Amino acid sequence: MVFRLKELLGKRFDEEVQFFKGWQKDKKGVGALIPTSIYAARRMASVVNPRSGMPILELGAGTGVITKAILERGIKSHQLVSVEYSRNFYNGLVQRFPGVDFRLGNAFALNEVLGERRGEQFDCVVSAVPLLSFPMEQRVALIEDLLARIPAGRPVIQITYGPLSPVIKMPDRYVVSHYDFVVRNIPPAQLWTYRRAV
Ligand SMILES: C[S@@+](CC[C@H](N)C(=O)[O-])C[C@H]1O[C@@H](n2cnc3c(N)ncnc32)[C@H](O)[C@@H]1O
Repeated sequence: MVFRLKELLGKRFDEEVQFFKGWQKDKKGVGALIPTSIYAARRMASVVNPRSGMPILELGAGTGVITKAILERGIKSHQLVSVEYSRNFYNGLVQRFPGVDFRLGNAFALNEVLGERRGEQFDCVVSAVPLLSFPMEQRVALIEDLLARIPAGRPVIQITYGPLSPVIKMPDRYVVSHYDFVVRNIPPAQLWTYRRAV
């Protein structure tokens, strides 16, 4: 029991060290100082529909907290496609989650990153890409690109730390909804969803 606790605390500490190193190297690209909490990760993963039979697209997996929460929803490893920009994080993810289709690359160039899977439809998108580090035109273009890859009515869920949606409203093009405010995250996190306008 004590051994298991030590093992768990050690793993969590390793994740935080890995995350902090990533943050030191690339503050803008990582966007947060410590990994997403399991509470925020589980809230994000709650939008996944495990019965859809479709793959799930994750963006900005980092240390894999959200990856784990998605898999815990009953998603098989091979059904998860996950894009990560940092090679360090990517190497850790590949080791930790065998079978998940990790792609090393830029979420803003998805056709290139997804390669042979570029034409696939996904059930939903779970994103932790630090959108506030990118210009608004790029954020809007990303959301519209993502919405074209999921069925109408299904969400892109995005974590952010500011009070407002990181992507401006465009009611004729997509619908923005506040999903949750997760206090048990450092810093407290806002979750937003985006759906195709019908
Ligand atoms: C705020 S961190 C969240 C990571 C994860 N939720 C965790 O707790 O470990 C943002 C992640 O997005 C990745 N990222 C940043 N820009 C990206 C991009 N353009 N494409 C894909 N991933 C990106 C960073 O490398 C980092 O792993």
